[in-house]
Amino acid sequence: MSIAKKEYKRITTKTLVDMKQNGEKISMLTAYDYTMAKIVDGSGVDVILVGDSASNVMAGHETTLPITLDQMIYHASSVIRGIDRSLVIVDLPFGSYQSDPKEALRSAIRIMKESGAHGVKMEGGKEIKESIKRILNAGIPVMGHLGLTPQSIYKFGTYTVRAKEEEEAKKLTEDAQLLEKAGCFSIVLEKVPAALAEKVAKSLTIPIIGIGAGGGVDGQVLVTHDMIGMTYEFNPRFLRRYLDLYSEMSKAFSSYIKDVKSGDFPNEKEQY
Ligand code: KIV
Repeated sequence: MSIAKKEYKRITTKTLVDMKQNGEKISMLTAYDYTMAKIVDGSGVDVILVGDSASNVMAGHETTLPITLDQMIYHASSVIRGIDRSLVIVDLPFGSYQSDPKEALRSAIRIMKESGAHGVKMEGGKEIKESIKRILNAGIPVMGHLGLTPQSIYKFGTYTVRAKEEEEAKKLTEDAQLLEKAGCFSIVLEKVPAALAEKVAKSLTIPIIGIGAGGGVDGQVLVTHDMIGMTYEFNPRFLRRYLDLYSEMSKAFSSYIKDVKSGDFPNEKEQY
């Protein structure tokens, strides 16, 4: 149980801003289902992200693009049933907000109404400013996402570090300022140089949550399945694995298969 858990009964968007002011780092992890959400929330994490990485992790797609709004709502409503304390933020999936602000608002309202989530996350800056404003005007909290934005992978062509060049770093800094000014409560910065991320975090009052953005930001996010080692093919430098669940689970499944085949399972105590 974390210290934060004792201090904050329930995490809100305001709590995160307070944490930044108090110099307390923010912890964020993904979850896509009830069981995982219950464990993550019970461990005292501040924010649970129902990420569109569910497209990769849960559905086995190569990118985040195929996941639908209905599927995100299904994942988010499962997560919401598992939590007591964490703030739950849901990714607006690709295609649900890029075409026009009215559609963006409709998508955000569906997520809030049908899943019970506490806010949405959107990838992009200036290009989606009007959509962000419209959603915020409806009273829905928005978390921004800049840097490596996986919904634009076909534009980037690679998952390499973003904003290494001055021009892109300048645009990212301007976009971060724009998102704060528009009213976003926080921003995820993905895979950008640590020095740039720190500079952005220091220049804004809203918290910057990093993934592959170094330690100078206000909090960290990882994909839970990666950090507990259920996945093993994805090995970026920024990923710290806290468990090797792929091996542990494989061992358990092999033992079960052996016991079934040999007739060892079930034994006399395991039957009626
Ligand atoms: O979808 C996701 O899991 C994310 C995180 C990697 C930040 O956007």
